[in-house]
Amino acid sequence: MCGIVGYVGRYNAKGILMNGLKKLEYRGYDSAGIAIISHRALVIRRCKGKISCLEERVLKEYIEGNVGVGHTRWATHGRPSEGNAHPHSDCASRLVVVHNGIIENYLQLKKRLLAGGHVFKSETDTEVIAHLVEQYLKPMKKKDLLKAVQLSIKQLKGSYAIAVISLDDPHTLVAARHFSPLIVGLGRDEYFVASDIPAILDRTKTVIPVQDNEIVHLTSLGAHFYDHNLRKITRKPMTIDWDPVTAEKGGYKHFMLKEIFEQPMTIQETIRGRFSLESGDLIFDENNLSKTAMKGIRKIYFVACGTAYHAGMVGKYLVEDIAKIPCEVDLASEFRYRKPLLDKETLIIAITQSGETADTLAALREAKRHGARTLAICNVTGSSATRDADGVVYTRTGPEIGVASTKAFTAQLAIICALAIYFAHVRAIITKKRTIELMESLYRLPRLVKKVLALEPAVKAVAQKYFKQRDFLYLGRNVNYPIALEGALKLKEISYIHAEGYAAGEMKHGPIALIDEQMPVVVLATGGVVYDKVLSNIQEIKARGGMVLALATEGDHHIKKIGVDDLIYMPQVAEVLSTITNTVVLQLFAYHVANLRGCDVDQPRNLAKSVVVE
Ligand code: G6P
Repeated sequence: MCGIVGYVGRYNAKGILMNGLKKLEYRGYDSAGIAIISHRALVIRRCKGKISCLEERVLKEYIEGNVGVGHTRWATHGRPSEGNAHPHSDCASRLVVVHNGIIENYLQLKKRLLAGGHVFKSETDTEVIAHLVEQYLKPMKKKDLLKAVQLSIKQLKGSYAIAVISLDDPHTLVAARHFSPLIVGLGRDEYFVASDIPAILDRTKTVIPVQDNEIVHLTSLGAHFYDHNLRKITRKPMTIDWDPVTAEKGGYKHFMLKEIFEQPMTIQETIRGRFSLESGDLIFDENNLSKTAMKGIRKIYFVACGTAYHAGMVGKYLVEDIAKIPCEVDLASEFRYRKPLLDKETLIIAITQSGETADTLAALREAKRHGARTLAICNVTGSSATRDADGVVYTRTGPEIGVASTKAFTAQLAIICALAIYFAHVRAIITKKRTIELMESLYRLPRLVKKVLALEPAVKAVAQKYFKQRDFLYLGRNVNYPIALEGALKLKEISYIHAEGYAAGEMKHGPIALIDEQMPVVVLATGGVVYDKVLSNIQEIKARGGMVLALATEGDHHIKKIGVDDLIYMPQVAEVLSTITNTVVLQLFAYHVANLRGCDVDQPRNLAKSVVVE
């Protein structure tokens, strides 16, 4: 939901800002812009459309300057247009602001500023920030951008990560954060701000996440942190162990395909060293929850959005089945409005790839307010969710760039399996021997996923047959019901085909009315306790002329006999782990369908990877 980047250092800012923006494009891509202080002038370049449009525009232009900011936009206030693209400037065009978030009181502020003679050029909420900073900076004898920004943000309500530069304090960049993600990168004689790590990863791995209500002052001499009253604070840098190469396509046509193929490795990394084979304990990355607290948990709520929500749904099945703890799953955007019953015997597990999804963070904070224990399953070191939660387990997938989540999801599922086993172990529901057996089956998973990836040609062939369809139904039961939802979500996100996921047993209560010769139905029939029931559901579809594309387990000849139209045989795997192997096939299917339809797989229309507004 918009990406910002800022640079102060001894090198030319243009290339660094453009590279940073390209890495942030997954956050929004309807318009982009940069501004650089060059020979006592502010050079501002903006474009409607993708970053490539901006790049074309500035490529041949020589813009010299060592202080600059950049932005890639996902529109909230004001349609995508050049005029609404960031950076936004004040009346005199002496300063610019880039912003990620929503200023909720911008109409009141705008009214006041208009009355004070300010002239607005855009329809955005962001522009008020530029005028506020101007209002404070202009009368200052000794221009102090830091002070002007501090006074300005005191007026703001809503969420923001901003970066501001000004001709009146030309060697300085000031940035601030309230609810929207922001990191500072520390290089050699160069300093950065960015919405996310990949933007700066090729220049530095040393970062400091900016926390809520903090202000940062950057010059080529250093980065200084302040609280909202401008009291200096000391922050410790951390080192990011992501490889810059993981943020590149590495020969694949799309990031999504690369990330699908990374899954054997990312699952392995995520579970590697997670269990102590001596004690049977799970090794958290950070944990302020004692074993006694864990033992005392009476109820778990999984809270998440989008794909991560489907991981939470699987979590409910697994934790209830293996660890016998009652669970609920909530969409984070619903959680805090429905007044859930929370106390210190309740554990909230927030699942979030980015660790910055506004709804998930709000749910986490609400849970803490009611004294509940909290745990985050997250992919981004130092992100807000990991700071807010009592305990953290990281999915170690490296950066996920494709907007449609793939490798983060399967890593979340792997962690959830591990957590279910761990809860069962600490509550003495299963023996240590069984704990180790279960963990060992989890450790075999990466090899199985590799086998599944070898099915790509078969999946592609099926995609070729179906890619022109207008609607799809996905059916699954038990632990594979959430996987049917995820398969449908993946397809609709990137191919724009209408797809619905349903619990197979529920088909007769509605979706069966949709079935005819035009309706392909993807059925997850890989076995488990509901296998026979799923076969009956397939027969119900065939009896109504529907087309069935089934995922079944190798050696299952029975399913052939009932006349499915297309069949993909999957390796033998426990039902629990079939959630992961089935997901991989559905990801490949969605990818190839979207690719055959000529869709922009990595940057589907209207979506953003990180939704940091409510
Ligand atoms: C957006 C993305 C989804 C993601 C969801 C939650 O909608 O497009 O892919 O699942 O946000 O994101 P999170 O970072 O919290 O997992």
